[in-house]
Amino acid sequence: MTTPLAWSRDAVLIAPSVLAADFANLGRDVAAVERGGADLIHVDVMDGHFVPNITIGQPVVRALKRIATRPLDVHLMIEEADRYVDDFVGAGAAMVSVHVEATPHLHRTITHIKSLGVKAGAVLNPSTPVSSLAEIATELDFVLVMSVNPGFSGQAFIRQSLDKVRRVRELLTEAGSSALIEIDGGIDASNAREAVEAGATILVAGNAVFGTANAETAMHTLRAAATAALQP
Ligand code: DX5
Ligand code: ZN
Repeated sequence: MTTPLAWSRDAVLIAPSVLAADFANLGRDVAAVERGGADLIHVDVMDGHFVPNITIGQPVVRALKRIATRPLDVHLMIEEADRYVDDFVGAGAAMVSVHVEATPHLHRTITHIKSLGVKAGAVLNPSTPVSSLAEIATELDFVLVMSVNPGFSGQAFIRQSLDKVRRVRELLTEAGSSALIEIDGGIDASNAREAVEAGATILVAGNAVFGTANAETAMHTLRAAATAALQP
């Protein structure tokens, strides 16, 4: 049984990225982060074209769906996402995000993802301007702000992303959009609080969780850091 998706700007959701997990022990690692309070399981799909790495495909998402008790947040870093969206939703994705840079008919793709009954997100690379969301803001369930250049786990956080999150929040507010903001790349206990204060409520973390000796404990550390932003 999967827990329902908690969809509110009042909650901080933590989404460990299995890209940094041990692929030979994926079930063990997912169970560890779920014990540690993971809200979502973030799945990085890369095609070796849009980004310089090849990772996870639809069969792995289907396998994760069998064992995960949290909703699957599928981040598509691929060209021609339209060809694969149905497959990933069929495999069990609860959220699907596509890159603005790789999706020429973004309105069509976002509308289609939502028609499948899952949450639809648009992703911005670090060099992509916030203004590229202006005409799609009201259609989005969430915006994913990349705080590293996509392709690999374990890269250094780009600090300018914090200001970008603030500007995305402003754009969404001005547009009357209730979309949530997710941040992905280099998130750890040292910057989680700033990310939440800037307006992100979904935090993705790979290396900071699975790159430690104990992923369950690392989840608690990250949660404490992230929710410190909510204390008076
Ligand atoms: C990067 C991926 C991220 C990555 C995050 O292309 O989209 O989700 O796994 O890993 P860390 O937290 O290690 O930067
Ligand atoms: Zn990701």
